[in-house]
Amino acid sequence: MNSPLGVTSSAKVVVVGAGFAGLAAAASLIQAGFNHVQVLEAAHRPGGRVNTTRPFGPNVIELGANWIHGQKENPLFSMAKRHSLLSEDAYSSTMCLPTSVTPQDFFFREDGSLLSPSDVEHVCALFGKLTSRAFNNKLEKKYHSKSLGHYLDEAFAESPLASSFEDAAKVFEWCKRSECTDEASSSLYEVSALQIHEYTRLEGGFFNCLGPGGYQAMVDVLLKSLPPGVLLCDKPVTRIQWGLDKEGKGQSPCCPVKVLCEDGQEFEVDHVIVTASLGFLKERAWAMFEPALPEDKTGAIKRLGFGTVDKIFLKFSERFWPEDCAGIQLVWEEGPEDNDIYHSLSEGDSWRETWYKKICGFDIVAHHPTVLCGWITGREAQYMETLEEKVVREVCVRLLRSFTGWPVSEPTQVLFSTWWSNPYVKGSYTFVPHGVNGVREHQALAAPLPYRAIYTRKKPLQVLFAGEATHVNFYTTTHGAYITGIREAQRLIDLYTDQKLNSSEDCSSRI
Ligand SMILES: Cc1cc2nc3c(=O)[nH]c(=O)nc-3n(C[C@H](O)[C@H](O)[C@H](O)COP(=O)(O)OP(=O)(O)OC[C@H]3O[C@@H](n4cnc5c(N)ncnc54)[C@H](O)[C@@H]3O)c2cc1C
Ligand SMILES: *[C@@H]1O[C@H](CO)[C@@H](O)[C@H](O)[C@H]1NC(C)=O
Repeated sequence: MNSPLGVTSSAKVVVVGAGFAGLAAAASLIQAGFNHVQVLEAAHRPGGRVNTTRPFGPNVIELGANWIHGQKENPLFSMAKRHSLLSEDAYSSTMCLPTSVTPQDFFFREDGSLLSPSDVEHVCALFGKLTSRAFNNKLEKKYHSKSLGHYLDEAFAESPLASSFEDAAKVFEWCKRSECTDEASSSLYEVSALQIHEYTRLEGGFFNCLGPGGYQAMVDVLLKSLPPGVLLCDKPVTRIQWGLDKEGKGQSPCCPVKVLCEDGQEFEVDHVIVTASLGFLKERAWAMFEPALPEDKTGAIKRLGFGTVDKIFLKFSERFWPEDCAGIQLVWEEGPEDNDIYHSLSEGDSWRETWYKKICGFDIVAHHPTVLCGWITGREAQYMETLEEKVVREVCVRLLRSFTGWPVSEPTQVLFSTWWSNPYVKGSYTFVPHGVNGVREHQALAAPLPYRAIYTRKKPLQVLFAGEATHVNFYTTTHGAYITGIREAQRLIDLYTDQKLNSSEDCSSRI
């Protein structure tokens, strides 16, 4: 193939991780003419936080990412469209968030009674109005130093709606609990109110659905653009030694980075692009890099939040909910996102006894007429992952029976995601905690190593960082991850097409 980069294409690159970020990086490097790209994936299969499964028959169940969020300027939406991978019934599935509630979402009290849809709608509309103030950077100054949860509580208390009917505060608690699934936080009391506007929602629907192949079909598109042998699965990377040329560790000066795998295999390369999740980095970065990562990078890894969101799928032999029901939402007398309850649960570990109160509700699932999907976040989700399937099943059935009073049969199958327990993910997605400067930390995480390489005449761009957590505005999303993969590949492409840097010192131009 005629490479636009000509002779420089022999630079060796390892990409750690085969999620959207890693696959996008590898695909664009190869397309630009890099001939020595190796993707090392710890798991059995590529995809990362995409896990398309078929546990209940031919139709897919997404244990990880489910929707393409936004259409305009969303490269994944374009890709899905180009390859005809979008669902024909474009909005075949949504989830019940405060901003997407419809009269078909049934809200139940603990005593089995239904809340009036108009009461629910009023509270959700107010919640939507208050959160959009934060999302649009229109927060009053007095809220700037507050958590999102505290801001919402105070603004809600000022509204006449708060005292207009008895259950308003309880529905508001549900709104906060539900919003945690979008923010991947344990609680909105941990999320920054001021910083949340940095997250950018792309125009177009928030819940764009994929067709029968699910999200895996998107992963497959990227996989098809990788020549055979580029991707190696079951290859956990345990150590990355960088800056070797300076320390003269006997490597070829052309290959300043050494990547070591758990199975003993080693790769000597010019560049490595790390796409491991923020959760993995929180746990392992200290042991992985030699020399250790600079302080602003370890600080960013520590300060940015990485929350757990899990899904619980229940399959029944028949539907026990009415046909016009889009889901069953649980409104507690004392819910865990109530300010007082939240703070009392923070002491000790009594929250373990009421972990199930963190379940927002159970939504119906597209193309699965007898399946419900429950959502749970935070430490309660992490705790659930440690429980036996039988326990989770019993708790869910008990909740459904007591809240609805409907004749709920025993589920025939139960399946829940375990993103926190996955050692190479360790959670679900990124959030900006209260008191943290998200922009600064995302940028620190994304900065390539070594710093100021041009001035120190070290070979630049030894270790690059991509992945969902390294995007300032699109963190949490698949398209964010994808864009960071392209971004880091482009850095390398620019490096080899930039005459100034492509000096005689650059070994790759000699080959
Ligand atoms: C439950 C859930 C629901 C979600 N829903 C949506 C949604 O509807 N829409 C949306 O846009 N986003 C959603 N997301 C977020 C989306 O899945 C992620 O933002 C995106 O997939 C992240 O891609 P990534 O490439 O950055 O990271 P990952 O997908 O985590 O990929 C990183 C890869 O690196 C591998 N790895 C880690 N450490 C090592 C190592 N040491 N050696 C080798 N390999 C390693 C991992 O195994 C993994 O495959 C959801 C996530 C979860 C968990
Ligand atoms: C994907 O889901 C299946 C359950 O169907 C599970 O066995 C597997 O471990 C999951 N993979 C990842 C990477 O989470």
